[in-house]
Amino acid sequence: MQHDIKTAVVYQIYPKSFYSHHGNATGDLAGVIDKLDYLAWLGVDYLWLTPFFQSPQQDNGYDISDYYAIDPAYGTMADLERLIAEAKSRGIGLMLDIVVNHTSTAHAWFRQARQGRDNPYRDFYIWRDTPNNWQSKFGGSAWEFDADSGQYYLHLFDKTQADLNWANPAVRQAVYAMMRFWADKGVAGFRLDVINLISKPGDFPEDHSDGRRFYTDGPRIHDYLQEMHREVFAGRDLLTVGEMSSTSMTHCIDYTQPTRRELSMVFNFHHLKVDYPNGEKWVAAPFDFIELKRILSAWQVGMVSGGGWNATFWCNHDQPRVVSRFGDDGRYRVESAKMLASVLHGLRGTPYIYQGEEIAMANPGFTRIDDYRDVESLNAWHALRAQGVAAEAVLAAIRQKSRDNARTPMQWDNGPHAGFSRVAPWIDVAPDADRVNVAAALADPGSVLHHYRQLIALRKRHPIFADGDYRCLTPEHPAIWAYLRASEAARLLVIANFRAEPQDFDPPLAPLPVGWRWRLLSANLPASPDQPGPLRLRPYEALIYLAER
Ligand code: GLC
Repeated sequence: MQHDIKTAVVYQIYPKSFYSHHGNATGDLAGVIDKLDYLAWLGVDYLWLTPFFQSPQQDNGYDISDYYAIDPAYGTMADLERLIAEAKSRGIGLMLDIVVNHTSTAHAWFRQARQGRDNPYRDFYIWRDTPNNWQSKFGGSAWEFDADSGQYYLHLFDKTQADLNWANPAVRQAVYAMMRFWADKGVAGFRLDVINLISKPGDFPEDHSDGRRFYTDGPRIHDYLQEMHREVFAGRDLLTVGEMSSTSMTHCIDYTQPTRRELSMVFNFHHLKVDYPNGEKWVAAPFDFIELKRILSAWQVGMVSGGGWNATFWCNHDQPRVVSRFGDDGRYRVESAKMLASVLHGLRGTPYIYQGEEIAMANPGFTRIDDYRDVESLNAWHALRAQGVAAEAVLAAIRQKSRDNARTPMQWDNGPHAGFSRVAPWIDVAPDADRVNVAAALADPGSVLHHYRQLIALRKRHPIFADGDYRCLTPEHPAIWAYLRASEAARLLVIANFRAEPQDFDPPLAPLPVGWRWRLLSANLPASPDQPGPLRLRPYEALIYLAER
């Protein structure tokens, strides 16, 4: 299967919450096969599935205990092989989620390693007699004492997720062998979990902060990725996307600049911290719109001039729902969800759609801590309550920020459990499922779903989406984001109102070359002007204009 990664669109599936073929409380791989016709209709090129490997599920599969086995809750190897083949027959490639910063402490390597200091697997992990002051990203110290062997091991995430020692060549070879195994099975790409954290400095210095500056984009990260490219990617047609935590643009250019032979593209998260006041996640807060534009615009311009490539996204399984976050999930749910889709899909980069985003699923608004399942949210609850923060304040923050906002079951129809399962699902269905669901969206030509489908088709039809450069026209405007994409052959103009109030706006445009003319390519409201003159934008209106040679 050959896809141009620059015109491709990727759809992310969180299998636990996507669809249960067997009717169980959790989704499964056979459920993904059941929905392939829907995904092919939508027009996506790749499916990225979050981990379905054998796992104690402490972090919903990001704690892998066997990289070669399918967790029975998700099905069998035969199901996966059928999924790969069925997807391929519809022109869709399957991407696996590779979690190799850490393994579960239930992995055979770790069980060996903790047998003693001279066990051959000891050096697969990172051990110290005394911990430094680094913090886990899920709260508390990043070190856990192993009483049996008398040392501390490093875990940047949960204490059941022990960090692998990438300085050990045997670890790297074991990882590459595993990745080749999956590539040989016919997968079309890899999403690499927190891959820029794998290279730790040898001396583990104390920090005035949580330690991330020492291991983020760490000392040997580019050597490791180039080695991975030689050992796994070279000679294969794979889309590779790295999840880059707290990264920098300089590194991201290096990760994706094709001649360096590292990765196809990267995710960064700077634009999703615009509602973290002073960097603090667990506070309910509005988002900073100017900052959102500033950050995304800087990455659009900077990555392009450096020859790099962005993965563009609003949502994933770790983020709240975008319509609740940067749009309006009440009165203007449909308008604002379409507006956000237009803005994202007009950017330069490869767009990712997270399951349910295409029907504008919203944060579920759970009211009790017992409704939440995510280890990060529950850790935050306990830590903040122990510090004396009022229960209502913590819940308000969790309601806005929890990763579970993205993890409620996919809403397929207005039947029991939103058509996701036959029994009560592992986490509650959001309360709006009777109105917001795939069946209703398919039947309504004006739905958010149909808008996503049109945007995907436009990207395939017009090269400007992939190859135009980017310029923000409204960096300081409090309500409007307008930007221009330009190539030798075309111009693309995206204009979006991020507010519920109408806005008067005259886009500052240079005259088009002689003989070129604007035409309206996409709109989220009826009766939009066919030329970008002085405009009166309605609430959450989004317009895309095209001019071609
Ligand atoms: C990534 C995943 C997240 C997981 C973490 C640790 O950020 O997206 O879900 O908890 O890595 O593996």
